[in-house]
Amino acid sequence: MSVKLVAQENKSGDPDLAAQGFGCVKENGIKVFPVESDPADIYAFFEQNGFAVLSDSLGSEDVDFLNNFCDESQRRDPGVWGLSDKRKPHHRNQGLIFSQPLLDHPELDRFTRHPNSFPVVAHLLGGKEHVRFAEFNLRETPANSGVGAMNFHHDATIEDRFLRSPYLPCDYLCAIHYLSDVGEANPAFCVVPGSNKFETLKEAHDALGDDYQELPIRGAAGTCILYDTALFHTRLDGDGIQPRRTWHQYYARGGWLQSALPTTSKYRRSPSPVLTDWNLFPERLAMHENLEVRMFFSHWNTAQGEWAASGFDPEVRKAMPRGEQ
Ligand SMILES: [Fe+2]
Repeated sequence: MSVKLVAQENKSGDPDLAAQGFGCVKENGIKVFPVESDPADIYAFFEQNGFAVLSDSLGSEDVDFLNNFCDESQRRDPGVWGLSDKRKPHHRNQGLIFSQPLLDHPELDRFTRHPNSFPVVAHLLGGKEHVRFAEFNLRETPANSGVGAMNFHHDATIEDRFLRSPYLPCDYLCAIHYLSDVGEANPAFCVVPGSNKFETLKEAHDALGDDYQELPIRGAAGTCILYDTALFHTRLDGDGIQPRRTWHQYYARGGWLQSALPTTSKYRRSPSPVLTDWNLFPERLAMHENLEVRMFFSHWNTAQGEWAASGFDPEVRKAMPRGEQ
């Protein structure tokens, strides 16, 4: 093991900000799949690494549509992006976020199962009947934001991932689509391949040895990154000047699966628990007349349960965190 434990440079000049990883950043190290690739090839890469990149998942019309949506919503209703006096505390120093745009914007519904990325998502989660919607948001690091020094972290995980066999399908999958070009000066999503099988980044670093890498993902607008939420990742700072815009969608695994643990011959993996206790699905999706769509939006948290029981009362929604939009 020859990689030295050197932290990534903290570009901010602020000693209180975290360094970003072990200084093992490798540029141009990413294998990229065109969307027409065989999902089996993408699956094999994902199984090994915990992520996969699709080069051209959104065409220019979709990229323009979503950028226009961002521009329009920022202009018309800046508060939903946190662009008001009461900036959203959960994303202070982490850029802007429009947290629940689906609530009031049915024009975005068609993106929730996008024809280019969804077949791959379905393959990775064990078939389209096992894919559940979890969260959809739009984010932006505006120009001249400075650097935020986000730490490497993983998102939601379930403990049995260390024991179950097979490991896949994973419990949650996130799809990040770049809505602006991401080059070397822009903030970049950055992953540690294979780190989803470890509890800490240090454990991954020690166990992976020479294979330990921090890979920034650069790509044109329309690029899609699919990752197991257990994978260590960060937003690697750019030069603090160049912006970045992204669309993030989280999926969960639904249904019961036969699996195995070392101590027992077999057990049934239950559907993944809800990802958040605040995310809400609008009535038109949660109560959709098409049962397939309704199943896709079936992972309700208690906030959603109460909102549905109230008849989707707007006052009940307003009382919830991030519901007042
Ligand atoms: Fe994250």
